[in-house]
Amino acid sequence: MFNFIRLSALFFFLNISLFFAQIYKNPSENIEKRISDLLNRMTLQEKIGQMQQYNLWEMNDKVLEEVADGKVGSFLNAGSKEDKIKLQTVAVSKSRLGIPLIFGRDVIHGYKTVLPIPLGQASTWNPDLIKKGAEVAAAEASEDGIHWTFAPMIDISRDPRWGRIAESCGEDPFLASVMGSAMIHGFQGENLAAPNTIAACAKHYVGYGAAEGGRDYNTTLIPEGELRNIYLKPFQAAVKTGVATLMSAFNDLNGVPATGNNFTLKKILRKEWLYDGFVVSDWGAVSEMINHGFAKDGEEAAVKAVNAGVNMEMVTENYKTHLTQLINSGKVKVEWIDTLVAGILRVKFKLGLFDNPFGINPSKTTLTNTNKKIAKEIATESIVLLQNRNSTLPLNIDKINNLAIVGPLADAPADQLGTWSLDGNPANVITPLKAIKKEFGHKLKIYYSKAMETPRSNDRKYFNDALEIAGKSDCVLLFLGEDAMLSGETHCRAFLNLPGKQEELIDELSKLGKPLILIILAGRPLTFGNVANKVNSILYAWHPGIMGGEAISDILFGKVSPSGKLPVTFPRTVGQIPIYYNHKNTGRPPSPNQLGRTLGTPENPDGYASYYLDVDYTPAYPFGYGLTYSSLKYSNLSLSDKTIKLDDTLQVSVSVTNTGNFRTKEIVELYIRDLYGSITRPVKELKGFKKIDLAPGESRKVKFSLSAEDFKFYDINMNYIAEPGEFEIFVGGSSNDKDLLKEKIILK
Ligand code: GLC
Repeated sequence: MFNFIRLSALFFFLNISLFFAQIYKNPSENIEKRISDLLNRMTLQEKIGQMQQYNLWEMNDKVLEEVADGKVGSFLNAGSKEDKIKLQTVAVSKSRLGIPLIFGRDVIHGYKTVLPIPLGQASTWNPDLIKKGAEVAAAEASEDGIHWTFAPMIDISRDPRWGRIAESCGEDPFLASVMGSAMIHGFQGENLAAPNTIAACAKHYVGYGAAEGGRDYNTTLIPEGELRNIYLKPFQAAVKTGVATLMSAFNDLNGVPATGNNFTLKKILRKEWLYDGFVVSDWGAVSEMINHGFAKDGEEAAVKAVNAGVNMEMVTENYKTHLTQLINSGKVKVEWIDTLVAGILRVKFKLGLFDNPFGINPSKTTLTNTNKKIAKEIATESIVLLQNRNSTLPLNIDKINNLAIVGPLADAPADQLGTWSLDGNPANVITPLKAIKKEFGHKLKIYYSKAMETPRSNDRKYFNDALEIAGKSDCVLLFLGEDAMLSGETHCRAFLNLPGKQEELIDELSKLGKPLILIILAGRPLTFGNVANKVNSILYAWHPGIMGGEAISDILFGKVSPSGKLPVTFPRTVGQIPIYYNHKNTGRPPSPNQLGRTLGTPENPDGYASYYLDVDYTPAYPFGYGLTYSSLKYSNLSLSDKTIKLDDTLQVSVSVTNTGNFRTKEIVELYIRDLYGSITRPVKELKGFKKIDLAPGESRKVKFSLSAEDFKFYDINMNYIAEPGEFEIFVGGSSNDKDLLKEKIILK
């Protein structure tokens, strides 16, 4: 008996001391203990406060009062570094429990050192380099007190009409998974609490890129098999990589908006993937469930979003307004609120915000030469050479005296930054005109004409000016494409041709008989098949960020060979969309004898197969395509076995030889094809790639290994399995059969 009294007295004493010890404030305590200690102290109002994110462009007293009252958990934007310090000081010193705020911002492709748009970054197929770019972005953003970026955007994007394809890593789940994970590693580093790392946010969960008609925010209908085998893959990889947060998407997914979708947010994300970070809604997406007709009012929107598992509401206030009575009425369980708030607190603890609330990176690396060098490397490796007739490129400086630089994008710093470059400053941009003048102005006579006011101009205002300088030059560099305003959120296009009078300009210039090099800057694949044969060479430079001009110049003049490859299929015409490489074979696949149709002159069908009467069924440029200044030969594809069992590992090797006279990087791509299965299977699936660097004449044996994991897919019953049967293994320089060596294996 006496022992019992002693024990319970001890227990009581311990509890009291623990309560006053404020475990949650003890940095040496285990994070989970700190979370539960803090949750036990929080009122329901304070819990709901953590679930509210506000946008803040201008500081004001009202918002400071809300922070002091513990009614805000996060801000996006939130003004200057000083504004963030002011807000955080109030949060940690005036609110009852001193819970720090988390500051978010769209640091999508660089902060002040603006990198190429993510679609350009994906074209490098160089995850190590892309990780460095994200590290640069994190270090610069954290200097301004930003704790969290709403990136990477890893929506599978097969539709270039969709303006947001610019922010994506393209059409393939494997490539998007690798590039998205590299960005997350770069942003978050090995220690989220380090001053130069920030929390990442995998977005937009999920299926947003499948918007019907390529129209932003539009309906998406994705069967579960397609969802799991394609659209969810990059998010699954992101969660495995340890992404701190996700963002729920705007789109209605199979009749249930992604922001109120129990299946994706709870069953898959939390029950199957055991995710314990937090999900923030996209801007206003909770309220938009009313527009969707999925919620009668804000109260129902709040129930559906919170019960599905959206931890934090961005900008709108349905949680703040309705959660208290929803909990009192039992429609929302307080235990579930605790789980959701724990997810938010867990990220704040991991970020170290309870111990170092301002989280400001003290080192000054913004816009340093080191950062610019990384930006230039990414831009250089992002550029894709699509055409190079008569090896017009690289330009030989000794054979040129007069150079014409023409086009509305030759000296367009703001457009070069691309979409979502909130913190980019055009004054820091080196344009192609500036770079070429700086490097070669003393050797060449350089003429310049913008030829058009903007890429969308429908007048021929400076055409004569352009024609006149081209007439007296030895070759013409033509910078055309899309301005940044045509790219990004809600900027969708029903046509993909070069806007304005750009095609006419090419037409006129081509009549001069000068070597014509077209450099396209754009945020998406464009269609330019009717002018491609009027120019010698075509470089695709995306929107290449602040160092794009130097990168383009280095490639044009042969300092380095282009090495980028397409992360997305380029259609011949918008009418072909959707067109992507990992398509199904259909019961009547078209064959090469059905190629060769010229656009606009339909003929009698010669055979009943899946093709068009008026345009080739093949893309203008396939996924994984990109030329170099050299020539590469693939040979000796060999497999370790012709038959493998499920628990074997298949070794694949191929020899790659640089048979040209130019040093180049080469992206070696590995695909598989499951020839038959319990469901129809794609004609190709990317399962590996390696980027190598070859001197002229150099050969390299490139090796891959494939395991049963690489052959698995979700079958009709959503079992993740590899089925025995015949497979083809491809290795080569693009997804096009003519660029691939092929071998067969049997999976037992
Ligand atoms: C936007 C975008 C999202 C972005 C968020 C915050 O509407 O959909 O990608 O991160 O709002 O700016």
